[in-house]
Amino acid sequence: MISRDSIRQIIEAARIEEVVADFVPLKKAGSVLKGNCPFHMEKTPSFVVNPNKNIFKCFGCGKGGDAVKFVMEHEKFTYPEALRFLAQKFNITIVETESSEQDKQAAQEQESIYIVLNYAKKFFQEQLFDTEQGKNIGLSYFKERGFLESTIKSFDLGYAPDSYDAFYNQAIANGHQKERLINAGLIKEKNEKCYDFFRDRVMFPIHNVSGKVIAFGGRILKQNEKAPKYINTPETEVYHKSHIVYGIYQAKNEIRQQEVCYLVEGYTDVISLHQAGIKNVVASSGTALTKEQVLLIKRFTQNITILYDGDNAGIKAALRGLDIVLEQGLNVHLVLLPNGEDPDSFVQTNGLDKTLDYINQNKKDFIFFKSSLLMKEAGNDPIKKSEVIKDIVESIAKIDDNIKRQLYIKECANIVEVTENVLVNETNKIRTSSFKKARQINESEQQSINNYVEIEEDHEQNASQIPKLYYQEKDILRLLVEFADEVYDKEHNVGEHILSELTEVAFKNSMFDKVVQYYIKGYEDGHSFKALNDIAIIDDEDIKQVIVELQSSQYELSENWLKMHDIIVRESNRTYITDVDSVMNRFRFYKLMEAMQVLDQRIKTADENKQVEELYGIQIKKMEYISLKIDLSKKIGTITHPF
Ligand code: UTP
Ligand code: MN
Repeated sequence: MISRDSIRQIIEAARIEEVVADFVPLKKAGSVLKGNCPFHMEKTPSFVVNPNKNIFKCFGCGKGGDAVKFVMEHEKFTYPEALRFLAQKFNITIVETESSEQDKQAAQEQESIYIVLNYAKKFFQEQLFDTEQGKNIGLSYFKERGFLESTIKSFDLGYAPDSYDAFYNQAIANGHQKERLINAGLIKEKNEKCYDFFRDRVMFPIHNVSGKVIAFGGRILKQNEKAPKYINTPETEVYHKSHIVYGIYQAKNEIRQQEVCYLVEGYTDVISLHQAGIKNVVASSGTALTKEQVLLIKRFTQNITILYDGDNAGIKAALRGLDIVLEQGLNVHLVLLPNGEDPDSFVQTNGLDKTLDYINQNKKDFIFFKSSLLMKEAGNDPIKKSEVIKDIVESIAKIDDNIKRQLYIKECANIVEVTENVLVNETNKIRTSSFKKARQINESEQQSINNYVEIEEDHEQNASQIPKLYYQEKDILRLLVEFADEVYDKEHNVGEHILSELTEVAFKNSMFDKVVQYYIKGYEDGHSFKALNDIAIIDDEDIKQVIVELQSSQYELSENWLKMHDIIVRESNRTYITDVDSVMNRFRFYKLMEAMQVLDQRIKTADENKQVEELYGIQIKKMEYISLKIDLSKKIGTITHPF
């Protein structure tokens, strides 16, 4: 393990401008340097390198960080890989800390598995290109399928001979240990005899992101056999099927440049599309997409377009699995190919241009596609229809972005033939209940937030007896009481705007929190805010008391809070909208400060426990928070100060 001293030295020595300049041409612009962002396509430079702060930031795509982060992003290095790379560049000798004997052994074991896998890859390639059997059976099969030699080489394709132990014998003769071969999933032992796992099959190596072979898929060549068409390496120490997509190594740069990842089902679909010129393509290898696979793709793009076989019977099940992609905030589109065609056959018959045309003309948004398909199947059956609506609502609720969710609700309301209101209420119900669950889990974190707030307030020199947060919470409730039904923007009224942010936070004042929960519940149940503010129908005494008090006091931003911070409100420009923005921004600011305190605590713990990667992740997060803080301070400034 790299010692902490070394890490510090590397981070200090790594001049951001020198690191970036190796990959991106930069021009001086005042005290900073500018260039075209390597992480998204652009013609005018919005990628800025700041040598004083030793960071980079793209104002187009938002990526930013220090030199370590840059090489991790650009080269897709892991944290230790990035450190080693920078150490070499800046001539820093890395001091390794002693890792435990166990760690060392595990690392060595992994390394040795990679070595035998690489050996196997070469063996299968030699069989394919240099043996009569390989050429006659394997190579001619690939050629018949239209694969060019250059393609076969880019994907490291090979051939496993028709023999029980040809690979095993040669591997042993070359000094590889039996145990390693077994651990790598290349041979099997039965009745004290070893035999090859892959026999008489064409071989598709599966690479990890950095290009190491971690597993194989082998396709049968003879037809009408009872054996499965493909067999794949079982789970091993280095191969976790659910964590990898086939083709990611060959596709990653193109995915980043094209800003979309095509997702197909099979090895051969990836290879044929790649050969035709569509290189931003990966395969899920015939199984439902997992969260880890989605996160892997998300490292390179936010956009996934799935190419499906038109008559695929499993399509409905597959659609259900896709909520996982929405949950990660990705944009998902679907393209149905004509009946009986898969991407491989389609591109081989139609060529590049027609394939791209077809994709662009038939690309449908996933949620709309799912809604229409399921509605068509439900026909006029009301029970089935209501199930479809539930299903769609589940999908929509997975979208975190408020505006995006709103747009989907609008469109889907038409498709599933209900009013927008119904969809809004149903999605809100799901969202609030999942937030509540999340909140329970976070209770201990919340506790530490609360502790912090108290400590901070104790030390505040000019703090009044009553904490600031009290006024902020009260201000928010005032706005709800007074303006909840007024228009906030095109999509929301003030009440919705405010509550959408409060589902995730608990008010510290328990009485106020009760009122917020009352509003949220009432809103979910479809009541108007006017009705909710009607004290005649409120039966909880606490809630009634708070609302009555707020209704009877003239609305004003809490003067105490403002005075405490020497903020002068310019009366003439004030509207309820600027008030809402001002109050909410100050609340956000406060919550952000709390969150930063929690981060600092986590930094301390991670530092003490030497969790280097964790530490790094938190520090990146903290940088994001800092820039958020700057943005918010500016906003608070412009709203509350005279121009
Ligand atoms: P397909 O049957 O569509 O395979 O299965 P394919 O890639 O199009 O192959 P060709 O064109 O018939 O040669 C899709 C994927 O499902 C996995 C493989 O990853 C395959 O690429 N699969 C399929 C298996 O793992 N085992 C099987 O028996 C079949
Ligand atoms: Mn196929």
